[in-house]
Amino acid sequence: MTAWEFATSTATQTQQLAENLARLLRAGDLVILSGELGAGKTTFTQGLGRSLGVREGIISPTFVLVRIHPNLADGHNPGGPDLVHVDAYRLATPGEIDDIDLENTMDTSVTVVEWGVDRVEHLAASRLDIELVRAVGGALPAPGDETLGQTEDADDGSMDFADTFDADEDDDEPRTLRLNAVGPRWDGIDFSVLGQLVNTTE
Ligand SMILES: Nc1ncnc2c1ncn2[C@@H]1O[C@H](COP(=O)(O)OP(=O)(O)O)[C@@H](O)[C@H]1O
Ligand SMILES: [Mg+2]
Repeated sequence: MTAWEFATSTATQTQQLAENLARLLRAGDLVILSGELGAGKTTFTQGLGRSLGVREGIISPTFVLVRIHPNLADGHNPGGPDLVHVDAYRLATPGEIDDIDLENTMDTSVTVVEWGVDRVEHLAASRLDIELVRAVGGALPAPGDETLGQTEDADDGSMDFADTFDADEDDDEPRTLRLNAVGPRWDGIDFSVLGQLVNTTE
């Protein structure tokens, strides 16, 4: 297994990182995304989809467990893999995973599973585990920011207006992305091409 860590400061950067990753991906690959609600798992998947040249419209699949985004013949990557986007949050047992028949689409697709840890590892011999971590408390307010005075108690765990404002999910905030490459598929692959490398451990 190799481990890599990246940092992004905006949603766009997270998508660019995913686009870079997508260039390494091929049909049969499994990507497992973890991280709390709002960490950026769906945002990341949108970047993957863009680079893979699949049909757009990647949204949080919370109410639909699986969405298949077919590769577009008139896109920029014709003949490439489809993207299968899964939200496993509500899938408690491996049996329920088997019911949605991901095996069927694995061979022709890149399969991305949000909340997939301990649920879908059995689908493939190799996988990428990617954890998105949201910085606690979000970005510090800029000097002169008129909400500055209201953030003085931000470290004591209380919620005030400024905290609520900072938690607005459309605000760009730093994220750390931790990637673990598991299995023979990833032997010798240099993930530093993803960009914004924080440090590397092997
Ligand atoms: N650095 C960042 N990386 C990813 N998303 C970010 C970042 N900064 C802010 N965001 C925002 O956080 C939200 C992440 O939501 P989403 O991708 O649906 O999360 P999840 O699928 O993990 O629940 C989006 O509104 C996105 O714009
Ligand atoms: Mg999501």
